[in-house]
Amino acid sequence: MSTKTISPTVTDESMDVSPNWETDPSNTSIHGHREDGRTIAIHSLSVLPAYQRRGLGKTIMKSYNQRMETSGVADRIALLAHDHLVGMYESMGFEKKGKSDVRFAGGGWNSLTYEFAEYNPGS
Ligand SMILES: CC(C)(COP(=O)(O)OP(=O)(O)OC[C@H]1O[C@@H](n2cnc3c(N)ncnc32)[C@H](O)[C@@H]1OP(=O)(O)O)[C@@H](O)C(=O)NCCC(=O)NCCS
Repeated sequence: MSTKTISPTVTDESMDVSPNWETDPSNTSIHGHREDGRTIAIHSLSVLPAYQRRGLGKTIMKSYNQRMETSGVADRIALLAHDHLVGMYESMGFEKKGKSDVRFAGGGWNSLTYEFAEYNPGS
């Protein structure tokens, strides 16, 4: 599950919904999805317990990263992870940006981003 945000990392506001999301889809607040945002914020990645540790999570993320990069809709992907999954995301090309200020679910999150190489279909 993901949205776009104008912040370079996942924030509490980017996980929120825009104040008028039901009546006005052209969101200009810092809350919720921003169509003009250049960061794809991933809010959830889940594999059913019975299928975990078979390489599915890694395959999904690598495929998603590649598709989002070539689509040109953003400059990076950002997500939050607890300490035990930082290595997993680093092995997929994400870079740890330090501890996040996000307070969601008790806080203690690490902020990670995957920066796209400049995509230039014309060259
Ligand atoms: C996290 C999750 C998506 C990983 O999916 P998965 O299909 O089990 O992961 P993979 O089998 O592709 O494993 C990829 C790598 O991550 C490692 N890894 C997977 N789960 C891990 C865990 N719980 N702790 C530490 N490392 C883990 C694997 O060892 C593997 O490492 P390798 O590439 O060096 O072999 C899955 O465990 C899940 O849905 N967990 C519950 C929800 C959750 O925590 N989501 C992440 C929120 S940030």
